[in-house]
Parts: sequence; structure tokens; C-alpha cells
Amino acid sequence: MSLNEELKTTEDAALAKIGAAGDVAALERVRPEALGKSSALRGFLRQLGKLPAEERPEAGRVINEAQARVEAAFEEKLATLRDAELARRLDTERVDVTMPPPRPITGSLHPLTLTRREVERIFISMGYEVAEGPEIETEYNNFDALNIKADHPARDMHDTFYLDTPAGGILRTHTSPVQIRYMLKHKPPLAIIAPGRVFRVDDVDATHSPVFHQVEGLLVDKKVSMAHLKSTLIEFLRALYSDDIEIRFRPSYFPFTEPSAEIDMKWRSGKGDTWLEMGGAGMVHPNVLRNVGIDPAEYSGFAFGCGLERLAMLRYGLSAMRPLYENDIRYLRQFR
Ligand code: DAH
Repeated sequence: MSLNEELKTTEDAALAKIGAAGDVAALERVRPEALGKSSALRGFLRQLGKLPAEERPEAGRVINEAQARVEAAFEEKLATLRDAELARRLDTERVDVTMPPPRPITGSLHPLTLTRREVERIFISMGYEVAEGPEIETEYNNFDALNIKADHPARDMHDTFYLDTPAGGILRTHTSPVQIRYMLKHKPPLAIIAPGRVFRVDDVDATHSPVFHQVEGLLVDKKVSMAHLKSTLIEFLRALYSDDIEIRFRPSYFPFTEPSAEIDMKWRSGKGDTWLEMGGAGMVHPNVLRNVGIDPAEYSGFAFGCGLERLAMLRYGLSAMRPLYENDIRYLRQFR
């Protein structure tokens, strides 16, 4: 075979491999054997020395031309493949600017928070102020000042969490100590509600939790009567539920009120009507007023305390209290 024929076969083989490359990566794999230092075409250059001197320039020119054609074919193919790849990406990675963006994940308020806010809204509209007290209380504020004597069952170790610290103290068992704190700082006339967390050593079951919430109410002024208490609570429960609810006041006992009542609301369920206990209430006991330096001969007041969980359960038709504390996002999202 003549040099020219051999050269032609080698060039064709290189061109064929370049032509067969299906993508840029495949073409790059062909590069060393088509264009590299040890390619077959370069091999010819190294053999030039064996030729008679007068044939070398012509042979060198022919080899270089073949090399140049392979290089040109390679570059052209590379450009074609790159264009094709770009076109494919433009096609598949197209951005649809008309597509709506994904909705940001937004939180939602807890049903107890929603209920507390609604209770606050209703009482604020009746001229009440929202007061707060600490969750760690003194035994004095939680019990003594509220006329709960040392031998009262509520002071039993089983109900109260006592703090094991040098300063002592307890976790408040109800929101009523906020009455004391507020009256020590403010002179009547006064009207507050005090929503908050309370604690009791309690067996945990479907209806009991060692941590729960109450809303306390207190109004002190001249000539406050039981009628004010009744109308206020009826007005409140109507605003929270509906105008056609039925409310019952049942005589009861609390050390810090005299007389005392339990507030029941009629609940119509599939199984018939039942009276549900909504909270306790009464006329502030004269001893409580005296304990905070208010003269019971001049002032009288009413107070009440409702369980926030109960208010929320009736508001949303919940059958159990436990899910309120489990923080299952799927459950909580329903209250948006
Ligand atoms: N503190 C009472 C409790 O935890 C509830 C209560 C009853 C509050 C009567 C009051 C009230 O203010 O007047 O069971």
C-alpha cells in the first residue's frame, strides 16, 4: 500500500469515529486517538525520516493536510453536538413564567389561642382589661388571700405542685391569684379577665391534664350584685356561642365567693340534651376584699373562672381534650 493509501485509510477511520460520536462526552473520548500525540496520523510524521529526502516535503504536506481535515471535522462535530445539547436543554428546562408559585407554608394559631383571643375580644368590648399573673405563685396568693384555709383539700399535696427550691412557691392551681395581685395594685372600680395556664397533679386521661387553662374574671365596684354577674356571663356565652344558648346557675361553694354558683350550659348532642359545667362564679367574699385592703362595706364584686379547654371544645365541637396537647400538625391545621 502506498503512503497515500495508508494515510487515507487512517484518516477515514478517524473521521468515521468522529462522525459516530453521539454526544459531547463520546466525542471527547475519541479525541486522544484522533488528535492526540500518539494518534495514528502523528505516527506517519515520525516515519518521515525513513523516506528519501526529496520525498519528505511532499509527504509531510499530505500528512499535515490529513491531520488538519481530521481536526476540522472534530471541531465541527463538537460545535454541532454542543448546539444540539443546548437546544435540548432549552427545550426541556423551559421556565413557565405563568405557573403560580408554590404556596409558602404558613402556620396557624392553636385552637386554645384562638378561643382565648375571642374571649378577650368579647370582654374588652365590655370594658374589661386583660391582666396577667405568674405561673409560679406564692401559697399566700394562691390560697390564703383567697380565703382558702390551710386545711382545705385543694391544698393537699396531691393537687398542688410544690417547688423544691429554697424560695419555695407552687405552680398556681387556678387563675384566681391574679385577682389578688391586681387588687393589691389597683383601686376599684376595676374589671379584668385573666387568662392563663394552671397546674394540678392529676392523673392524665381523656378529660384531665396536669396543665390546662382558665379564664378568670373579676369586677369590683360600688353596688355590684349577683344580677350583674348573671347578665355578664350570659352576655359573654351568647357572644362566644349563639344567642339561643340556655344557661343555668347552680348553687355551689367556693371559699373566695359568697354566694357561689356553678355555671352550666345546655348542650344539644345526638344523644340528647346535657348540662355542661362551664365554670365557677360568685360574689367576691368580704374576706378576700379585706385581704387586699378594699372595704367590703363600700365595695362589692363578682368573680368567675372558666376552663378554656371546655370553652374551646364546645366552640369547635371537639370530643376529646388530649389532641389539643399533642401538637399534631394535621389536627391543628384544621383551625385556620
Ligand atoms: N378558681 C376556681 C377553680 O379553679 C374557679 C372559680 C370559681 C373562679 C369561682 C372564680 C370563682 O373566680 O368566683 O376551680
